[in-house]
Amino acid sequence: MSEPLVQTSNLPLIPKQIFDANYPQSIQPKTLTELIELLYEAFASNEVNIDYVYTIMNNYKGTEKEWAPFRKFQPDRYTRNLVDGGNGKFNLMILCWAESQGSSIHNHTNSHCMMKCLQGKLIETRYAWPTVEQEEPMHILSRGELAEGQVAYINDAIGLHRVENPSHTETAVTLHLYIPPYDHCNVFDERTSRTNESNVTFYSIGGQLTANQ
Ligand code: SIN
Repeated sequence: MSEPLVQTSNLPLIPKQIFDANYPQSIQPKTLTELIELLYEAFASNEVNIDYVYTIMNNYKGTEKEWAPFRKFQPDRYTRNLVDGGNGKFNLMILCWAESQGSSIHNHTNSHCMMKCLQGKLIETRYAWPTVEQEEPMHILSRGELAEGQVAYINDAIGLHRVENPSHTETAVTLHLYIPPYDHCNVFDERTSRTNESNVTFYSIGGQLTANQ
């Protein structure tokens, strides 16, 4: 299926079938560089085939050695480390989750989000968008584990989510692809459904810590 890269409506189109299991499985990126090359090819025109992009993310089998420049932990918060800015069409990043760290509940600002677990495991909790004006707890849609090698997909039409490393003893590392990139999102309070806009920033870019670190 092809989808416009720049969404014109408030909510992105959702692939009807996530994702076609019969899509050619032959392309197996063996390195991060190979994955990035394939992504650039896939994004060469103004249409992107989300099934294909999911397939190459799913088939990517890298090694810890190639993630090393982007594998940066911080004691107080998970880190977002930009691997490639995709000519403004996508952001590929590595997120590093120290023990028990997690994200806020957030949306994805009309972007597609694919998240592959490279190391450890993550819990993804999905929430419905708040629908009422008054304060009330957020409604959980689902909660699932993302094991090593698995890829999750979400967009704003599916809902909101929070990602957590449930382990008190092990770190976790994930590879994220956002299409198109976004630099702010909304975060939500689980108890009240209140929301605030929040800027999203990088801890490192191309392996170098950003200026505010
Ligand atoms: C983030 O991008 O900061 C959190 C990961 C995600 O859930 O998309």
